[in-house]
Amino acid sequence: MIIVTGGCGFIGSAFILDWLAQDREPVLNLDLLTYAGHPGNLRTVESHPGYRFVRGDIADSALVGDLLREHRPRAIVHFAAESHVDRSIAGPDAFIQTNVVGTARLLQAAHGYWSRLPAPEASAFRFLNVSTDEVFGSLGPSEPAFSETHPYQPNSPYSASKASADHFARAWCHTFGLPVITTNCSNNYGPRQFPEKLIPLMIHNALAGQPLPVYGDGRQVRDWLHVGDHCSALRAVLERGRPGETYNIGGRSERTNLEVVHTICRVIDEARPGRSHAALVRHVQDRLGHDRRYAIDDSKIAAELGWKPAVTFEQGIRDTVQWYLANGDWVASVTSGAYRRWVEQQYPALHSAA
Ligand code: NAD
Ligand code: TYD
Repeated sequence: MIIVTGGCGFIGSAFILDWLAQDREPVLNLDLLTYAGHPGNLRTVESHPGYRFVRGDIADSALVGDLLREHRPRAIVHFAAESHVDRSIAGPDAFIQTNVVGTARLLQAAHGYWSRLPAPEASAFRFLNVSTDEVFGSLGPSEPAFSETHPYQPNSPYSASKASADHFARAWCHTFGLPVITTNCSNNYGPRQFPEKLIPLMIHNALAGQPLPVYGDGRQVRDWLHVGDHCSALRAVLERGRPGETYNIGGRSERTNLEVVHTICRVIDEARPGRSHAALVRHVQDRLGHDRRYAIDDSKIAAELGWKPAVTFEQGIRDTVQWYLANGDWVASVTSGAYRRWVEQQYPALHSAA
């Protein structure tokens, strides 16, 4: 079996759903159920014989040690994190606790378990540390994309905490021999993404006829990858990646934020004719320390593991808009009072104007 951490979040839930749909090994999902964790994401597999959920903290060494001894996983796929840059600016403590302390504790527990495994199981074991391209910092418009050897230059509390986690993961591999692989992926989008991140926020607001808040000039560039492609890359890394290595994962889809927002508006104009949703765009105060551009050089994972993204950005956005249109219940269930308070705090100009 495998243990997945953070499996009630956006990417972790997509990973578990795909994994079980492909009839792979049983999965134990360890998730603390923070504001970002939604057990409803896994409703369709709740009674699947290969699925088990444990509510708990990755920083709880006793709990994690017990789970490892009891279930004897052949891999840990580590998604659990605080993942939103704006929240890391508003309140960095949780990022330090989960992303840094939590990951370090998880590595220690994994090492304690792994070091007692018989040799064949120990050599087959993998700790897959799911990380981000944001650890590399920001690129100029014509600089080459991030390769795996690009220096770490994190700029936000979020990326600094993920960089720290990556350094601990590296150290546990180098010093103790724990078979760790780290992946650094670009921005994901797709079904079940919490509407605090750019793409689901824009879809959610456009469908509600609310303003679309674009930070600063909106010309910041991100590389976008459909979450299903991220999951297929992670499976390839888990099966064929080399311990001690890192792999960059990207979507070959660099877009400015304004391009992303206008693409979403065009797709929603077609689905809901009668108004131009782009008229809802509002430029608001820029994010502090806002990284200008991220881009991924995926030549290593393409050459070594034969992986490349399958979903084009245009098709992926269409499918994602359709998913949000068809899943209003899910959106309603996650946009509670706490969500509304976050939105009011984060976008004061929009709320005072309303
Ligand atoms: P998310 O915020 O949607 O989900 C995070 C999950 O982790 C939630 O279910 C939450 O309850 C859980 N969690 C938080 N703290 C925990 C703790 N202490 N113990 C156990 N569970 C805890 O995040 P996501 O977008 O699915 O991202 C998953 C991982 O992928 C993160 O490590 C993130 O840094 C990385 N990543 C995300 C993106 C992206 O675009 N979303 C891109 C690259 C890498
Ligand atoms: P986000 O989805 O938060 O991902 P990240 O910051 O990890 O890349 O943001 C993607 C881009 O969209 C980023 O440049 C910030 C910008 N953005 C806005 O312009 N408005 C918004 O309301 C949000 C949430 C993000």
